[in-house]
Amino acid sequence: MTDFPPIRKAVFPVAGLGTRFLPATKSIPKEMLPIVDKPLIQYAVEEAVEAGVDTIIFVTSHKKGAILDHFDPDAELESLLLAKGNDELRKRIHNIIPDHVSTRYVIQEKALGLGHAVWCAKNLVGDEPFAVLLADDLIRSKGSGCLKQMVDEYHATGAGSLGVEEVPSSMTDRYGIVSVEKDATERNYIRQIVEKPSPENAPSNLGVVGRYILPGEIFALLESVQAGVGGEIQLTDAISRQLDSKPLLAHAFEGERYDCGSRHGFIRATVDYALEHEDLRDDMLAYFDTLRDLRN
Ligand code: G1P
Repeated sequence: MTDFPPIRKAVFPVAGLGTRFLPATKSIPKEMLPIVDKPLIQYAVEEAVEAGVDTIIFVTSHKKGAILDHFDPDAELESLLLAKGNDELRKRIHNIIPDHVSTRYVIQEKALGLGHAVWCAKNLVGDEPFAVLLADDLIRSKGSGCLKQMVDEYHATGAGSLGVEEVPSSMTDRYGIVSVEKDATERNYIRQIVEKPSPENAPSNLGVVGRYILPGEIFALLESVQAGVGGEIQLTDAISRQLDSKPLLAHAFEGERYDCGSRHGFIRATVDYALEHEDLRDDMLAYFDTLRDLRN
């Protein structure tokens, strides 16, 4: 079996404005909005660390200091909690990022699109294959996390991949949409990718979710990509060109995705994650019983 270079670096584009959550996101980055008691960005970082990533690269804007603060150790708060005898709480903020993992920040000066955000990480990534995670897409898996599943497939094939799932045909214009072709091993290789096509023009209903393993060559392609859908530099357009020289897989992950960029998805995630907390579950279920009458 061939050894492929490990996926050590993960890029987190976090410079977006989060307008769908205004006014909450006027001063709080949308990635810092909590699902139960953990900010969205922490779920995504934990997923990357589980997949073996040891360098976290945040592509951020000047306004996103809260994200930096969140991942910085806070010895003062830790000793305060310890002095109060609350070691349980102290543990929750200790080593949010494990010691072997480092964080880097790069500023995206202008909001020119996802492709541009990823390109901003060029010098920090170099030419090795790397991951991109969009924290808006929260993925709850029973076994390995979505990125770990993709990394395992990368080690088996040497090919990068995009996380995909079926989306309602009427909603293709919200996603990158791929068409695929199976190889002899039953793996789905991407034939075509289009950013936010109308339902009539969509090549399928397989939507890209915010998980990518991409080769370092993508940066050179991003450099020459023109503004696309919405006047933005689209990652999808560079990926489309990448397909000419390197195959990429469509990874239909095991797990449930919540679109936490929408209020509906965010609230559903909050409910489902709350039900997983033992100390909340019974109260929540009892509360749902009281809501049943609302239907009538
Ligand atoms: C971005 C990508 C799109 C992808 C989506 C997943 O779109 O451009 O291809 O399907 O993330 O969440 P955005 O949601 O930022 O408009």
